[in-house]
Amino acid sequence: MAALLTNLRTTVHVSLGLAILLLVVFVGLGWAQMDMRFWEGFARWTHVVSGIMWIGLLWYFNFVQIPNMPNIPDEQKPAIGKVIAPAALFWFRWGAAATVLTGLVVAHLNNYLFSALTLGAMTGFSVPYHIFIGIGMWMALIMAFNVWFVIWPNQKIALGIVEAEADAKPAAARTAMLFSRTNTLLSFPMLVTMAMAQTLFG
Ligand code: HEM
Repeated sequence: MAALLTNLRTTVHVSLGLAILLLVVFVGLGWAQMDMRFWEGFARWTHVVSGIMWIGLLWYFNFVQIPNMPNIPDEQKPAIGKVIAPAALFWFRWGAAATVLTGLVVAHLNNYLFSALTLGAMTGFSVPYHIFIGIGMWMALIMAFNVWFVIWPNQKIALGIVEAEADAKPAAARTAMLFSRTNTLLSFPMLVTMAMAQTLFG
């Protein structure tokens, strides 16, 4: 058991194995069918898992790392800047990419991808469901854009991952922080649409 838990890769593989086992049991007992609904549910699972990876790390940066940086002695700051932050940023940006991709797949499988992306315009603004989830999808798309095209390039400068003038670093760090804060601001209303759309309108 200790060997299983001391190796992250093994732990994750066992976790995924348990997830598959759960589904195999329910399908095996005839309580669930491996039809289109199954794959839609599976797509939702991939979407929620990647969304948690992304937004979990967004909140880690905003609720834990940024507020506590001033409390860390200067000589210990490189542990965060050189080790923790780059590792967190890896899972953060790829989590964002996976969330967008899987979210678009879920919308497509729900048959409202374009209706939602046009905020219901394609259906004459007659389907509140599509307007509602479309607003959330656009919030999340803006957030993902911020991650890849503002936060990550500026963090690379701030953390010294790419060469830059020394005085460019504080400005880049501030830009990254403000856009990360913008994403935190958008995160709660975005999640209202994600989590409540089906219950309210489905
Ligand atoms: C561009 C990015 C995103 C797109 C295109 C997208 C798209 C969608 C769509 C179409 C649904 C189905 C809504 C429904 O009809 O019930 C959904 C559900 C959901 N999304 Fe997203 N989403 C995005 C980002 C996120 C993020 C960042 C999170 C963070 C965790 C998230 C979490 C969820 C959750 C929890 C659900 C509910 C799943 C369920 O009730 O089965 N989404 N998303």
